[in-house]
Amino acid sequence: MNGNTSVGKKGSSVDGAIHIYHGPTTLVSARHNGKQNIMVAAWVCELDFDPSRITVVIDKNTYTRELIEASGALAINVSCVARVDIVHKVGTTSGRDLKDTDKYAQYGLETFSASEIDAPLLKGCVEWLECKLISEPHNQNTYDLFITEVVAAYADGRIFQMVAGILRGMTIYGQFIMWQVALSLPSEKLKALK
Ligand SMILES: Cc1cc2nc3c(=O)[nH]c(=O)nc-3n(C[C@H](O)[C@H](O)[C@H](O)COP(=O)(O)O)c2cc1C
Repeated sequence: MNGNTSVGKKGSSVDGAIHIYHGPTTLVSARHNGKQNIMVAAWVCELDFDPSRITVVIDKNTYTRELIEASGALAINVSCVARVDIVHKVGTTSGRDLKDTDKYAQYGLETFSASEIDAPLLKGCVEWLECKLISEPHNQNTYDLFITEVVAAYADGRIFQMVAGILRGMTIYGQFIMWQVALSLPSEKLKALK
């Protein structure tokens, strides 16, 4: 078949034939009425540049989803390898099962305040996006798909300077990625990205 190595049809081996993947593994946090929570989400994807929009797939069973739908906001915390233990912990337990405490207290997670939304931002990450939910009940209920608009963004300048340096060294492709990164962040809300 023209050099193809695998073919799949719906209901047969289609899963093995699809090689399109989701975005980075992130930590999604939310707060409502004094209750706060954090979970892992890897089904995160950039949807639009200007205004900057991001989609996140959030399962119905998650406690975080309850807080997001109630508050209309979420924060995306981009973690790093150094925090992989935290990613494992908050991605394999539910805040709903914790009595008289939350994941932040349970796992010793420190936070700082968001500026445009009410959601806890996790210290020790390398990038934070504050997102407002664009309410689309059909997408949310049918596909667990949440569309959000980024209203503020922060990044650890040390990490981004390094990434920018590497990308600049990668000629045209690097410039395209830099352009994409620059366009995807709302400049008036962007802090620490120099
Ligand atoms: C690497 C990894 C990626 C994950 N990606 C997603 C995701 O994109 N969407 C989702 O709904 N759950 C995802 N999960 C599962 C949730 O993080 C998990 O169900 C979590 O326990 C929910 O917590 P909560 O009930 O406290 O909100 C992922 C878990 C891991 C470990």
